[in-house]
Amino acid sequence: MSARLSKPLVLPNGASLKNRIAKAAMTEGLADAANCATDRLATLYRRWSAGGAGLLITGNVMIDRRYLERPGNVAIDGPQTDQQLDALKRWTAAAREHGADIWAQLSHPGRQTPKMIAAEPVAPSAIGLDLPGGQFGEPRALLNEEIGDVIERFAHAAAIAKQTGFTGVQIHAAHGYLISEFLSPRANVRDDEWGGSLENRARLLMRIVDAVRAQVGSGFSVSVKLNSSDFQKGGFGPDDSAAVARWLEARGVDLIEISGGSYEQPTMMDMDGLEARYEEEKRESTRQREAYFLTYAEEMRAAIKTPLMVTGGFRTRAGMEEALASGACDVIGVARPLCVHPALPAQLISGGVDAMPAFEKTLRVGPGVFGPGSSVDLIRALNGFAAMAFFYQNIFRLADGRDGKDRMALLWAFIRHQRHEAKAAASLEPA
Ligand SMILES: Cc1cc2nc3c(=O)[nH]c(=O)nc-3n(C[C@H](O)[C@H](O)[C@H](O)COP(=O)(O)O)c2cc1C
Repeated sequence: MSARLSKPLVLPNGASLKNRIAKAAMTEGLADAANCATDRLATLYRRWSAGGAGLLITGNVMIDRRYLERPGNVAIDGPQTDQQLDALKRWTAAAREHGADIWAQLSHPGRQTPKMIAAEPVAPSAIGLDLPGGQFGEPRALLNEEIGDVIERFAHAAAIAKQTGFTGVQIHAAHGYLISEFLSPRANVRDDEWGGSLENRARLLMRIVDAVRAQVGSGFSVSVKLNSSDFQKGGFGPDDSAAVARWLEARGVDLIEISGGSYEQPTMMDMDGLEARYEEEKRESTRQREAYFLTYAEEMRAAIKTPLMVTGGFRTRAGMEEALASGACDVIGVARPLCVHPALPAQLISGGVDAMPAFEKTLRVGPGVFGPGSSVDLIRALNGFAAMAFFYQNIFRLADGRDGKDRMALLWAFIRHQRHEAKAAASLEPA
């Protein structure tokens, strides 16, 4: 039994998480054509709850049906029908069956809205993504009054989350989605109160946190997922992130989850070298650790007392215990391994398992030029997409009551996933 992993955590609002392992957010793609929760989501979360993590953070729950990250996202947009409320309640009841907390990750994808959802996404400024493949349309800048609407939508979704049995919310301010775009001086070149200085760029996040708190009250958990850095020249960097974290602490946020990167620079999924890159950025000595953002977490810990969750790369009990013992973080976020083996948290806590499979290190479409470390950009991108398809397909398997699969024909998983998403997008009811 791991005393460190099994120790409950009391949050600033007085709520208590039953242990230190959290299932980090993973978009499920399991909503129906009206972006309503389904019983497959309930099945999935019942299994993750039985799997022992103290906290289950949902995948992106969108606050505006016009701008989804994926066609199968759950959305809480506008007044909810009894049927929608009941579906959300069934989802949270299943997730809480084994004593886990469930927090809804509230999100707006900004310019990372796929073209199949919106030809013209919205963003702080009309600056498109620097990505090949034409999957994303050129965004337009949000009007001032539309920014007010975004804030209200986050607050409304949080109120519905509370009403339907979620025990907290997480505001997604990382990974290049809308709030993260506002924080970034590369994506946000506005010259009004929402752009320019860091204080202005962080205004959207702060207003959302305040509006959400005003809706849910002091006993409900409010968390933020924040980038340590965008890992892009001239982007949102570690010092900016520490300043934003201090402002969040002053606002009484209950937990900050540290991640990093965006679609342009997907460091949150990185397999190697990230910690080294971060160290390089900070001009410090290079230390190799399994978790990607621990060095940064240590610095943030020195700046604030708010509980910290670090996600990305944790694969061994020893690595997790060390991170907790050092005080760098309070909660260990785990994502990919739980798509295949939902019971790993309980096994790590009991001591039955020492390490989780690091699927990301081996998932490649093939050997030779298609193998690990290919220097061909296109093949590296294909490897990345195929690896994601592997996790998506496994999430579907768990939601259908089947076991996860350690191996899969990756090219086939990729094609199946692409087909599925196109079909789901085509059958979406109008927003
Ligand atoms: C299939 C999949 C879906 C994901 N969806 C989300 C999401 O909806 N929101 C989010 O903040 N992060 C998302 N992530 C990122 C994870 O939360 C996490 O930051 C990342 O996988 C690194 O953690 P890991 O090394 O434990 O997998 C997703 C990751 C995967 C693999």
